[in-house]
Amino acid sequence: MSHEIPSIEWNQLSKAEKYQYLHSNWNALIDNHVDEIANLANGAALMKDIFGWWWVGFYRVMNEELVLGPFQGPVACTRIGKGKGVCGASWIESKTLVVPNVDEFPGHIACSSKSKSEIVVPIYKRTGEIWGVLDVDSEYLDDFNEVDQIELEKFCRSLEIILS
Ligand code: SME
Repeated sequence: MSHEIPSIEWNQLSKAEKYQYLHSNWNALIDNHVDEIANLANGAALMKDIFGWWWVGFYRVMNEELVLGPFQGPVACTRIGKGKGVCGASWIESKTLVVPNVDEFPGHIACSSKSKSEIVVPIYKRTGEIWGVLDVDSEYLDDFNEVDQIELEKFCRSLEIILS
């Protein structure tokens, strides 16, 4: 199945407009005939296209640690211990963490020195069990706010239908 993303000058759109594109294109992109990895790979590519973030991707809970999943951006840590870094903290606290300045977050794991701010959103299966996290890094300080939190939480809820 294919879905072409419209050719748009993304940087002329407001954050709210970009999220509208994310939600509508994501719903059209989901392919229920393939596994979650294929869908999440397209999800990461879609977000990278629209927002141009430095790094965007998924970490899955596997054997009590977070393991790197589909992503877009520079190479990243493959495993993150439970409770470690922003991702591990978001997992055990079961809440979205918005970090305006990663240097001020105790225990932040720097996969790239270019990353300046970050948002991490927990992802759950339909059963309510934790599946993993969405991690987004920006090369700009204070790049994420409550709009990102609301919209990315909405996006992560829409993932439930493809997660096993
Ligand atoms: N900064 C994250 C690690 C993952 S990379 O940013 C892709 C953290 O502190 O958990």
